[in-house]
Amino acid sequence: MTRDLRLTVAAELERTRARTEVLTEAVDDADLIRQHSPLMSPLVWDLAHVGNQEELWLVRDVGGRDPVRRDIDELYDAFKHPRRDRPALPLLNPAEARAYVRQVRDKAMDILDTVRMDGRPLVADGFAFGMIVQHEQQHDETMLATHQLRAGAPVLTAPAPPPATAAPRGEVLIPAGPFTMGTDVEPWALDNERPAHRVDLPAYFIDAAPVTNAAYAEFIAAGGYDDPRWWGEDGWAHRTTAGLTAPAHWNRDGETYTRFGRVERIVPDEPVVHVCWYEARAYARWAGRRLPTEAEWEKAARFDPATGRSRRFPWGDDPPESRHANLGQRHLSPAPAGAYPDGASPLGVHQLIGDVWEWTDSDFHGYPGFRAFPYREYSEVFFGPDYKVLRGGSFGTDAAACRGTFRNWDYPIRRQIFSGFRCARDARPEDLG
Ligand SMILES: [Fe+2]
Repeated sequence: MTRDLRLTVAAELERTRARTEVLTEAVDDADLIRQHSPLMSPLVWDLAHVGNQEELWLVRDVGGRDPVRRDIDELYDAFKHPRRDRPALPLLNPAEARAYVRQVRDKAMDILDTVRMDGRPLVADGFAFGMIVQHEQQHDETMLATHQLRAGAPVLTAPAPPPATAAPRGEVLIPAGPFTMGTDVEPWALDNERPAHRVDLPAYFIDAAPVTNAAYAEFIAAGGYDDPRWWGEDGWAHRTTAGLTAPAHWNRDGETYTRFGRVERIVPDEPVVHVCWYEARAYARWAGRRLPTEAEWEKAARFDPATGRSRRFPWGDDPPESRHANLGQRHLSPAPAGAYPDGASPLGVHQLIGDVWEWTDSDFHGYPGFRAFPYREYSEVFFGPDYKVLRGGSFGTDAAACRGTFRNWDYPIRRQIFSGFRCARDARPEDLG
């Protein structure tokens, strides 16, 4: 077990660093230092920040070693400097940042060889290493979103996603009853996914696939962006100030979007992406539906009606393979609805994992019995009504940071992330016949 775990951890760290290198070596030094959007850090900040977190947790805490660069901790503390201010900081330059992350990684690998994995909770099952892998993968997804915001010639390439081979039904009835939400057993689950607890839900319908570009275009054509009825007071205020008229990166012609520097025709049966929570809610109301709650999303993704237990993923407990879900930046876009029949849930809900993060109707809160681990700043400081939960991961999310219990959160106005949604509705007595 221990040797296997070490090998797994080492492989995950290396695989993750290879992705970081793809994202940071695709552009020149000037591009790494530049701020491509006030919403994002310069890529070179993300790079050194990833190394700094690895130093803090693996080198200093787990390994008990002396600091590599204590003098830069403050610069790379995400809580001390908002993203818009980061370009003005005296950051490590690209060569220094690369040398720094390499030095930290060498020490971390050395510590991995000798640390006991069964001692403190922080290292049990390799948790601290898993946390650092997930952290770097999450920043890789953020860097991918920065690439999407970057002007200039395309630098990233990937094959197109697979075509649709199934036609998901319109909506799926999820029967009433309790299910287990969250986890006690997933070794690298973060504090906000814990503990496992029973949640009893009435019957509801949920879309068998995320809302597509074609469906969303109908909302636009029907004047959805100009009708305050669908937006609510807060949403309408945002829609007006921000001048929203279509998802981010859609071009004025209404027929193309720009993706990673390429102008492409909008694919009608692909999940809509780069919409904010207010847009998702407005669409759902226009369609006579609503967004699912977080519990509804997770029950659809994990509940197995045959056994009554919750699975790790919609398709079962096995880790994601390329036939299950569009994850890990293998493709640079969501895949059409119906492209992953092997990844569907037992009840026939498709593409819950991968493609687009899905906005839910729920605020970000701790589960009953929540305990911050290993630090309050991981999740707890974000709990409250300011953030909406997103589920399921996107084409830019790595499998290491994606599972049926994984929770993401963001402000309801954000859409630089790879965010889409699906709709739900209450089941009426006549639906249950
Ligand atoms: Fe971070």
